[in-house]
Amino acid sequence: MRRGDPIARLLADASLNADPFDEYERVRAAGPVKRTKLMSGTVSHAVASEVLRSPTFGVGGGHGELPPFTRRVLSKVMDPDAMGPMDPPSLLAVDPPAHGRYRRLVSREFTARSVTALEQRITEIAEGLLDEMARGGASQWDVVEAYASRLPVVVIADLLGVPERWQADILVWGNDAAMLLEPLLGWRNYRTAEKAVRRLNVWFDQHIENLRRDPGTDLLSRLATTSDEERLDQHELRALGLLVLGAGFETTVNLIGNGVVQLDRHRDQLELLREKPELWPNAVEEVLRHDSPVQMTLRSAYDDVEVQGQALTKGEPVVVFLGGANRDPAVFTDPQVFDVARENASDHLAFSSGAHYCLGAGLARLEGTIALRTLFERYPDLQVSGPTERRATRVLRGYEHVPVAV
Ligand code: HEM
Repeated sequence: MRRGDPIARLLADASLNADPFDEYERVRAAGPVKRTKLMSGTVSHAVASEVLRSPTFGVGGGHGELPPFTRRVLSKVMDPDAMGPMDPPSLLAVDPPAHGRYRRLVSREFTARSVTALEQRITEIAEGLLDEMARGGASQWDVVEAYASRLPVVVIADLLGVPERWQADILVWGNDAAMLLEPLLGWRNYRTAEKAVRRLNVWFDQHIENLRRDPGTDLLSRLATTSDEERLDQHELRALGLLVLGAGFETTVNLIGNGVVQLDRHRDQLELLREKPELWPNAVEEVLRHDSPVQMTLRSAYDDVEVQGQALTKGEPVVVFLGGANRDPAVFTDPQVFDVARENASDHLAFSSGAHYCLGAGLARLEGTIALRTLFERYPDLQVSGPTERRATRVLRGYEHVPVAV
């Protein structure tokens, strides 16, 4: 039995990367909210939903609500080139009402119709990557390196108009920058992440400039060249580019990789999908629930407040363990069981909830479904063929390497 503060351990103990689920149960046993000296945490689906949706909780930045002059001065002091995906004006770091304006302008580009229109292109990308592997003739490959990490990059590159020659660099910088999502980062990792963010910011400035001069049909070109009076400024545009880049591929790669491993471990579920391919979208919901690619997020109470009978004080940070809420037995029967036919699988909080609900949820669902279905339809006997290697991250849950034989 482990001792000590379970919240601190869930934030920082790398030995929990592979399996944080017993620790989540310790937190659950303590009641709807576990309060510790450092911060509070919850794995309750009801509490998580309430915290994420309540206007009394925020992401803590709040700079979006400052008057423009103060913002300008602040952003200079804070060195705008060093601003990462968790700093304002990134959507993730801004509270309503400023968040609402920003989100409205961007979400026009993420409608269900525009996502559905990408179906054929995503299928082409998936087939193309598998053709490339088949031409190489190898019967064993790393499915994360060759497929899961490449597909989302190409999709996001299309969305942001990133030329092909830049995609390899963008992948490396994006990977490094994503470390900034981790709650506790060593100094060396921090320096690497910060360097990557600076490169990306400078690169995005130039890229947006190029798109203004010679726009394509991509989302970023449309946002950069709109003549709407209410449009994103340069800072907001590059922050959006940075966020969509990180949010878009650092998470989806994990959805695909986690899906391959779970389906390999549960061959009966794969058999069921073969008999009933219409279950594929639900299988993706179940991967998102059972192995949530984003395991946690953070909110602060902006006032004294009571949540599900638990009093919290103004300023109290609350870690919302999405991965733990997604295994709450009050909502999911036998939550530890991986069941692609689970009726309420999509009640998960893997895409968060409330104002910051994932903007790319529809796209991620479509990518996950196409990627996994295309892979297993082409290679029904695909098997994990060696030791897998997990990513060394606590917020993001996924694999660095998954060797497979086809
Ligand atoms: C926000 C998860 C894919 C763009 C979020 C949040 C989560 C999440 C948990 C909210 C964090 C919070 O509440 O603090 C995921 C997962 C994905 C995925 C699990 C894949 C499996 C994508 C994709 C895109 C995207 C493909 C874009 C193309 C965004 C953006 C936000 C966001 C822009 C910020 C929304 C806001 O603050 O208003 N995502 N995401 N995500 N996601 Fe995703």
